[in-house]
Parts: sequence; structure tokens; C-alpha cells
Amino acid sequence: MGHRRNPQRDHKQRRGLGLLPDLPTAPPLPRRPSPSILLSSLCLANLLQYETLRLFPPILALPKHTSSSPQALKIGDRTIIIPAHTSTSPSLLAVHTHPKYWPDPMEWKPSRWMTKENGRDSLVTPARDTYFPWSDGPQNCPGRKFSEVEFVAVLALLMRDHVLRIVKGDGENDDKARERALRVINDCDMQLLLRMRDADQLKLKCERRLE
Ligand code: HEM
Repeated sequence: MGHRRNPQRDHKQRRGLGLLPDLPTAPPLPRRPSPSILLSSLCLANLLQYETLRLFPPILALPKHTSSSPQALKIGDRTIIIPAHTSTSPSLLAVHTHPKYWPDPMEWKPSRWMTKENGRDSLVTPARDTYFPWSDGPQNCPGRKFSEVEFVAVLALLMRDHVLRIVKGDGENDDKARERALRVINDCDMQLLLRMRDADQLKLKCERRLE
């Protein structure tokens, strides 16, 4: 059964489930939002994607191989020579969770991506070489822009008219359901890509909001 839209209740429930723990929750979008309201809501969707890809990059490391000649790798003011026919596998996750660049590195905290520029909300640009879920350099992901636009478009359209709720188990309250959801989300391993090991343990229902 659906529910009437009630911004205050939605806000409380989203906080109650801890899905957006540290974000100012935007009011639901009006049917025909002005371009500036639309832009700031889309920006919110963007930072959810960035923070999720920081902690859960689908490709955890970037295997690279040198050819028949050695390669020089410059790191700060050091130059390291990687011998010919050598494999390296720089870990994205290690850089994405390095405490030198990311305070509270293991916390999923979308607000870390938000800053103010000339009084307006805008996205943080991370320090160079500290964030690269789409890889970097000449062989980086050609689908980056596509996946960014797709994520924002799907999320914005879905959440405009719907709310997602965790399907609770028998006798389970909100807190227990949230704990279970976080356990399932954090229990990942690497198959072809990063994946939840037992996603079937977590069911969500998508309810239509009524005007
Ligand atoms: C969140 C979504 C995505 C992430 C995080 C991602 C990440 C990556 C990464 C890390 C690589 C490896 C680059 C390297 O070897 O250095 C890659 C390669 C690639 N990605 Fe994506 N990708 C995403 C979505 C997409 C989409 C939507 C497409 C196509 C529409 C795409 C097409 C490709 C292709 C063709 C390559 C191989 C590039 C090459 O080896 O020259 N990706 N991606």
C-alpha cells in the first residue's frame, strides 16, 4: 500500500534507516522544479555516487604490465624503475581509504563531497591522484561520463516519485533492519567485479509516493 507524501516523515525515516546519515535532506522535488533547484538536487545524487564509488569501486585494483622495456614511474620527487615484463596492481581502495587524504576513511559520508563556492553548493574536487574509480591516464574508462549521467538520471527519476524501504524480517525493528542492511552491503568480495556476497539477504521495496 502506498503512503501520502509527507516530507517530514520521509526525512525522519530516511534518517532513521541511516541511509543519508549526514546530509541535509532536500525536500521532495516539485513537479516542475526551477533549473536551480533541479541542479542542486542532481548535484546531491552525484555526491552519493562519488562516495559510494570511493568505498565500493567495482574494480578494486588496476593490473598493468610493463612490456619488453623497463618503465620509469615518478612518485612525488622519487623515480622508481619498474623492470621489463613485470606486473603491478595499484590498489584503488588503498588510495580511496588513505587517512592522509580522507578523514574518517571507512565512513560512508556523502557530505565530504559538498562544499560552498561563492555561497553556492558545489562538488569537491579531490586532491590529484587520490580518487580514480574510473582509472586515470590514457587508458581510463571511456564510459565515465555515461555512467555518471545514467546514475544521476535513474536515481533522480526513481526517487522523485518513490521511496525505498528495507523489507523487515519477522519481529525486526528499524534499527535491526538497518544493521542487517549495513552488514549485507559491507560483506563484499571480488568476482568479476566487486559484489555483495549475499545480496538475497536484503530486500528493498519501492513504494510510490502519492501527491
Ligand atoms: C560506475 C561505472 C563504471 C566504473 C567505476 C568503471 C571503471 C572502469 C575502470 C577502472 C576501467 C579500467 C581502466 C584501466 O585499465 O586503467 C574501465 C575500463 C573500461 N570501461 Fe568502465 N567503468 C564504468 C562504467 C562503464 C560504462 C557505462 C562503459 C560503457 C558504456 C564502460 C566502458 C569501459 C571500457 C570499454 C573500458 C576499457 C578501456 C580500455 O581498456 O581501453 N565503463 N572502466
